[in-house]
Amino acid sequence: MAAKKSAKAKSVKTQSRDYGYFDDANKEYVLRDPATPIKWCNYVGTLDFGGIVDTTGGTVLCKGDPALNRITKYISQMPAGDFKGSTVYLRIKEKKSYKIVSPFVVPTCTIWDKWECRVGLSYTTWLAEGYGIRVKIRVFVPAKSSTLIQDISVQNISGKKLEVDVVPVYEFSHFDALKQLTNADWVPQTMTLDAHREKSGHVILEQYAFMKKKYEVNYFTASMAADSYDGDRRSFLGFNEIMGWSCPGSIYKGKLTNSSALRGDNIAAQMFKFKLANKKTGRVATQLGKQKSLAAAMPEIEKYRNLRNIDKAFAELAAFWNKYLGALQVKTPDASFNSMVNIHNPRQCHTTKNWSRYLSLYQLGFGSDRGIGYRDSSQDLLGVMSHMPEEARVLAENLLSVQLEEGNAMHQYFPSTMEANEGDSREKEDRPKYYGDDHLWIVLTVASYLKETGNLKFLQKQIPFYNKKKELSKREKATVLEHLKRSLAFTHKDCGKHGIPHLGFADWNDTVNLPTGAESLFNANLFAKALVEMIDICQAIGDKKLVTQYKAWYENIKAKVNKVAWDGQWYVRWFDEKGKALGSSKNAVNKIDSLGQSWPVISGVATEERAKLALKSVYKYLNTKNGIKLSWPGYDGFDPHVGGVSTYPPGAKENGGIFLHANPWIMIAETIVGNGDRAFQYYNQINPAAKNNGLIDEFESEPYCYPQNILGDEHEKFGLARNAWLSGTSSWTYQAATQYILGIKATFDGLSINPCIPKAWNEFRVTRKFRGADYVIHVKNPKGVSKGVKSVTIDGREIKGHVVPILSGKKHVVLVMMG
Ligand code: GLC
Repeated sequence: MAAKKSAKAKSVKTQSRDYGYFDDANKEYVLRDPATPIKWCNYVGTLDFGGIVDTTGGTVLCKGDPALNRITKYISQMPAGDFKGSTVYLRIKEKKSYKIVSPFVVPTCTIWDKWECRVGLSYTTWLAEGYGIRVKIRVFVPAKSSTLIQDISVQNISGKKLEVDVVPVYEFSHFDALKQLTNADWVPQTMTLDAHREKSGHVILEQYAFMKKKYEVNYFTASMAADSYDGDRRSFLGFNEIMGWSCPGSIYKGKLTNSSALRGDNIAAQMFKFKLANKKTGRVATQLGKQKSLAAAMPEIEKYRNLRNIDKAFAELAAFWNKYLGALQVKTPDASFNSMVNIHNPRQCHTTKNWSRYLSLYQLGFGSDRGIGYRDSSQDLLGVMSHMPEEARVLAENLLSVQLEEGNAMHQYFPSTMEANEGDSREKEDRPKYYGDDHLWIVLTVASYLKETGNLKFLQKQIPFYNKKKELSKREKATVLEHLKRSLAFTHKDCGKHGIPHLGFADWNDTVNLPTGAESLFNANLFAKALVEMIDICQAIGDKKLVTQYKAWYENIKAKVNKVAWDGQWYVRWFDEKGKALGSSKNAVNKIDSLGQSWPVISGVATEERAKLALKSVYKYLNTKNGIKLSWPGYDGFDPHVGGVSTYPPGAKENGGIFLHANPWIMIAETIVGNGDRAFQYYNQINPAAKNNGLIDEFESEPYCYPQNILGDEHEKFGLARNAWLSGTSSWTYQAATQYILGIKATFDGLSINPCIPKAWNEFRVTRKFRGADYVIHVKNPKGVSKGVKSVTIDGREIKGHVVPILSGKKHVVLVMMG
C-alpha cells in the first residue's frame, strides 16, 4: 500500500511536456521536441538490409544479421546528445563568419526556430528551420535494395546569398558487432577504407574489415560530386579527437582532409558545397550500402544517383504500405482505436515479424545472446498473417527447421548461418535444457496460415528437423504435418506428477526457472489450445483418426487442469519440483498470475463459472490504470529456487510488472466470456497513443508503438515504460482488437464475424481482404449489446450463422446485425 501511495503522489506532480502529435492523414507521428525522455526511434528497411534510426539521426544498420553483419557503430547506452553512428553537419557561410549546425540537433547542440521529426512507415523525415535555411532530410531503404538513402535538401530562406556545405557522416562498426566492443587490438588493425574518386567527381568510400575485402564491402557515395571526403576518424575530427564530434576540425576549415584509412576508426564523410541564391534549394542524396564487391554495387549506385529514382523508390515504399495496411481497415466510434488498428499496430507487427527480439535499442543484437526467437517469432507471425501470409510462411518454415526430431525446438537461431541454440538454458547446469512451450506455438502459427490462405498443400511440404551433429542434407526430413504431430506428442509425453506438462527451463515466462520436475499450467493450456487448432486442421484434411486422438488428448488435459489447478478463486500457475503451487493464494508472494487465468479461457479448458471468477480475480488483484500486472505480489529479493524473476525489484518486468504482452490475453479472455466493456477498458489502458496527451514524462517511451513493459504499482516509478517496439504485445493486441473485439477471424469455412464490443458502440465498419476478395463489413448494434450476432446478410442475402463463406468475386458487402 505504501508503494501505491507514493506512486500516486508522483503522478500528480508530473506535468508532461507536449512532445509531438499524430498525423494520421500522413500515417506519421510528428515529434516537435528533440529532447525526448529516452531515445525514440523508427525502423527502416527489413532484416535483409536495414535497422534503426533514432529521432536525432543516430543509425544502427546491418545486412541480414545484426550480430554478424553490422555496418554502423551505435552505442545505445551513451547519452542521446552523443554522436550515434551518423549525423549531418551543415556549415553555413555568410560573408566572413560561419556557423556549424546539425538538422538532427545532435551532436552540435543546435537549437532551431522550427524543428520536426516525422516518424513514418519505414522512413523518417526531419524538417529544420533557422539560420537562414530550411533543411529537409529523409532516410529510408528502397524495397529489396541494400542501401540506406539519405535525401538532403537545403533551401536558402535568408533573403540573401548563402554558401552552405553539407557534410553527412557515418561511423563504421566491425561486421562482428560484439568484437567491435570487446577487441580494440584486432578490430582496428583490420578496419580499412579506400577512397575512389571517379572522373565525374563522385566519391565512393569503400570500407571493409580486411578479411572481407574480397567478399563483402560497405560503400558510401552520393548523387553529386564531393568537394572533399574523409575515411579516417582522427583526420576528420582533428585536434587528435580531443574536441569530439561536436566541432570537427575539418568542418571548421571548410574542407575535409581526403583521408583514407589503413587501420583505425573508419568513417565515411563527404562534403558537398552549395552556393544558394535566395529561395533556391540544393539537394544531395547519399547511399550507404553493402554488397559483395564495389563492382556488384555499381548498378544500384548508378540507379540511386538519379534523384528521380529516389523519388520513385519512396513512392513505391508508400505503395507497399498502402497495400499492406489495406488488408484490414476499420472505422469504429473510437478515433484512437482506429489510428492504432489501421496504422501503428499493424506497422509494429511488421517490425516484430522482421526483427523478432534481435535488434532494438534494448536488445542490442550483439553476440549470441539473442537471435530469431522460436517462441517470439511464432507469435509475431500471427500478427501479420492477414497482411503477408506467404512471407509469414517462409519464416515459419525456418522455425520448423530448427525443431528437433523429438518434437521440442531450439530456442533461437541466427538467420545468416541458420545455427540454432538453446537460449539461456545453455548456461544453467542444474536446469532442463529445453523450453516447455516453444514447439507448441508453431502449431498456432501454421493453423493461422492455413486458415488465412486455405493452402492445405503446405502440410505436405518436407522440412528438415534440426540436428547440430548432421549436415543439412543428412538431417531427417518430414512433412509440416508430421512436425506439428511431433510438437504435440512431445508435450503429451512430457508430463509431471500432476499429469501437467513439464516446465522445461521456462515456459512463456522466461524468468521462472524451477528445478527439473516442475510443471507449467501455462504449457498445459497452450498445449490444449494447440490441440484445438490441430483438431481444426485434421478436420480440414479429413483425418478422422487424428481428430479422435487429439480430442481425447484435449479432454484429458482439460480434466487434469480442472482437477489439480483450481485454487478457489483462480487457477494456479506452476507446480514446483516438489509439487508446491506457485500463483496460489496460499503463498506469501506470487499469489496470482495473469497467464494462469487468461490461458484456461483461451484454450477452452476453464468452465464458464471458473472463467468468470478467474477474470474477476484478475480485475481485483492485478489491474491498474496503466495495465494488468503479470503477477502479484512481487518477490522482494533474490530467490535461487525461482531464479531470474526475483532479480527484478517488485513491480518490474516479470516480477509483478505490467508485462504488456500478457494484457491482450486477458482482453481476449474477456471477449470469450462476453465482457466487451472490460475488454475495451483493458485495450485502452495500454494504448500508447493515449499517453501522448500529457503522460509522456511518466511513460517516457514512444507513444506510437507498444513497449514490452511498464513498471507496476509495487514500484515507485509506476507507469514508466521500457523496451519499445519488439514485443509480443504488438501481435497479440492486434489479434485482440481485430479477431476478438471486432471479432473478424479467418476459419477454414470462411470469415467468422462475432464481435464483442463496448455496449456504447452502435456500429462499426471493417474492410478485410480474404482469399482474394474484399469484404466490406458493416456491423450494427441497435440494442447496445456487447456480444451476439442476430443476422448476417451478404450482398443482400441472409445466411445462417456468423461465418461468411469463401466466395468468388472481387467484392462482397456484408451486413451484420447484433442483438
Ligand atoms: C520477452 C521474451 C519472450 C518472453 C517474455 C516473458 O519478451 O522475448 O520470449 O516470453 O519476455 O518472459
